[in-house]
Amino acid sequence: MPISPQVSPQLSLQPFYTIHSRSCSLVVDCRGNSPAILYWGVRLNEASSPEMLSLLATRQEVQACMPEEAPIALSPELGAGFSGSAGVQIHRDGAQWAVYSQIQSVCVESNNRLRIVSQCRGTEIELAHCLQLDTNTDVLTATTQLTNIGQSTLWVDRCDAPCIPVPMHYNKILGFKGRWAKEFQTQSIDRFMGAYVRENRSGRTSHDAFPAVIVHSDQANESTGEAYGLHLGWSGNHHLRIEEQFVGRAYAQFGELFFPGELSLAPGESYCSPVLYGASSSTGFTDLSACFHQYIRENLTDPRMQGKPKPVHFNTWEAMYFDLSMPRLCQLADEAAALGVERFVLDDGWFKGRKSDRAGLGDWTVDATVFPQGLGPLIAHVNAGGMEFGLWVEPEMVNPDSDLYRAHPDWVLNAAPAPLLLSRNQLVLDLTRTEVQEYLLEQLDNLLSEYAITYLKWDMNRVINQPGNAEGRAVTHYQTLALYQLLARIREAHPQVEIESCSSGGGRADLGILAHTDRIWTSDSNDALDRLSIQKGFSFFFPPEIMGAHVGPRDCHVTGRSISMATRAGVALFGDMGIEANLLAMDDTEKAALKAAVALHKKHRPLLHSGKLVRLDTENYENSFGVIAADKQEALFSYGLLDGQPNSAPGRLRFPGLDASTLYTVNIIWPQQPSSYSKSILDILNGSVISGDALAKFGVQLPLMLPASLLVFHLVFHRRHSDQ
Ligand code: GLA
Repeated sequence: MPISPQVSPQLSLQPFYTIHSRSCSLVVDCRGNSPAILYWGVRLNEASSPEMLSLLATRQEVQACMPEEAPIALSPELGAGFSGSAGVQIHRDGAQWAVYSQIQSVCVESNNRLRIVSQCRGTEIELAHCLQLDTNTDVLTATTQLTNIGQSTLWVDRCDAPCIPVPMHYNKILGFKGRWAKEFQTQSIDRFMGAYVRENRSGRTSHDAFPAVIVHSDQANESTGEAYGLHLGWSGNHHLRIEEQFVGRAYAQFGELFFPGELSLAPGESYCSPVLYGASSSTGFTDLSACFHQYIRENLTDPRMQGKPKPVHFNTWEAMYFDLSMPRLCQLADEAAALGVERFVLDDGWFKGRKSDRAGLGDWTVDATVFPQGLGPLIAHVNAGGMEFGLWVEPEMVNPDSDLYRAHPDWVLNAAPAPLLLSRNQLVLDLTRTEVQEYLLEQLDNLLSEYAITYLKWDMNRVINQPGNAEGRAVTHYQTLALYQLLARIREAHPQVEIESCSSGGGRADLGILAHTDRIWTSDSNDALDRLSIQKGFSFFFPPEIMGAHVGPRDCHVTGRSISMATRAGVALFGDMGIEANLLAMDDTEKAALKAAVALHKKHRPLLHSGKLVRLDTENYENSFGVIAADKQEALFSYGLLDGQPNSAPGRLRFPGLDASTLYTVNIIWPQQPSSYSKSILDILNGSVISGDALAKFGVQLPLMLPASLLVFHLVFHRRHSDQ
């Protein structure tokens, strides 16, 4: 039933609305026709009123501009003359494009949530903007909901999440770039007049355009300075824009990116933008990340996972690839169990016809040539070794060489009449079709019901660059929602199963997918040195416990680089640890070191997976970070030397974030027997008692280290300085 537009400004509206969290405030200016953020940042003192801020923000008319610029509204409006990128871009057969709304109602809940409803008579739409500051973590969540309140079809080219004005002194942009096996690389640039734009049309979150950005003041770094961190929780196409307008103001805008004709709303129908997640810090990037990590822990981590230790994985991929056999799998399982592994994961190659990446996707039954009695005997063997069993799947895909495709060639997304494009020999199933959803649900349900499976590695190994359905419409938006729905249905039916989001490594890592999954496969590169920068980039928005981090083979299969076990294990132990290498080819010395690293990870797992991650500002030949317990009684710090250092002798490592008046016992706990060229701090440091103050302000003299090596420091409460 269409809703008829009733545009009558409400007299009871206040000029400003303010919401607060523990350390942040957000003020929305509702004096104009449409709502706009007046302030977002450090919590305002009670002495400060919105009226004062608005007075302070008064701008004069400037040359060659409108006497009064259209505001950077939550959805900046074309009808109001906004000269940047409008937040809602719509039309009805080419007309009714000029959005100019009027605020209808504002609802404030619990002092931290705001819902503002506006309507536009000209375009016959209703907009509902929701803004919430999470009380504990200060994370802002923001959405825009668009409803067609007219009588005809509304074509939607754009409906972004609420637009965030960026303070002019936030003149730096820390963005993200990447590729397969080198995801989450940071890219620092000066903001410029014009727009920094990232667009993703890959149908997944993407390797190259992670949907996030940090905008910050000139001097900001890990421990000081002002910054906003912004991330779009969406696993399909997106765009993001940081625009500095010549009139002397800037804004950040995030939203879904639609293909032509992809989204239309029938009368009465609504669309809601993906959630924009934001954090504001006046104390540097580490504190921004802490907000996101805590938010994920408290709000996106499924209740069934809260407090549950993340088992150490063994994954068969780099150990066996497609060359699976029962005897070798059982041998590997025995070796893994002996190293302390807690979950054995059978990766690609286990299902019907899957001898290579050329066949099998779509046929989710066990390959009888490898497993004549099904997976039961292998799972029994794994369980007998004290490990859980996990399985790799790639449900959204189909190989033309599969029973499924032969039976239903019309189930794939396409761009007809253009020829179907294969990538990794596979096509994408149209999940928006009910019969496809039901087929996949049934296949997965059969597996999860028949076998004791506690984990699925849910992979997705190609871009969706022909996202058309059988009617010829682009459907990435609905495909993404259908994926979320499928994941939700599986979680509901099989709550014991944890799901990892993988997409050729870290191609689908975002807070949208994380609401439906429990772990993210960070990258297909297990090269420990590359991993340090990949994991660092990942850590800006995600906490360590969801970061899949595996010890790979000594000679990395992706980069060919040969890296010691001490370094490989020392890098992996700071995430959700696993092993992905041929244990049958590993010598006893390496295995002994790996076993010790697994034990170390398990021992410190409660700290690693709950503490505050602190990144250090380092030179580009080094990498350093720590994890500090909430009560600051314990911490682990890693210092990695990536390359040769410029000076003959190395410098000192400082440990930020500790309690200044606590005395800590300091030990180097990894590698097992660190060595140095001549007598060094390594010979005298262990067991020393040092104040948090000295550790932070003065730091530890580093020993001479080989390139591609690292040290892990353990600091634990000895006593308070005052408790002599
Ligand atoms: C993707 C994943 C890998 C592995 C292979 C299997 O590339 O990222 O970890 O599972 O698929 O085909």
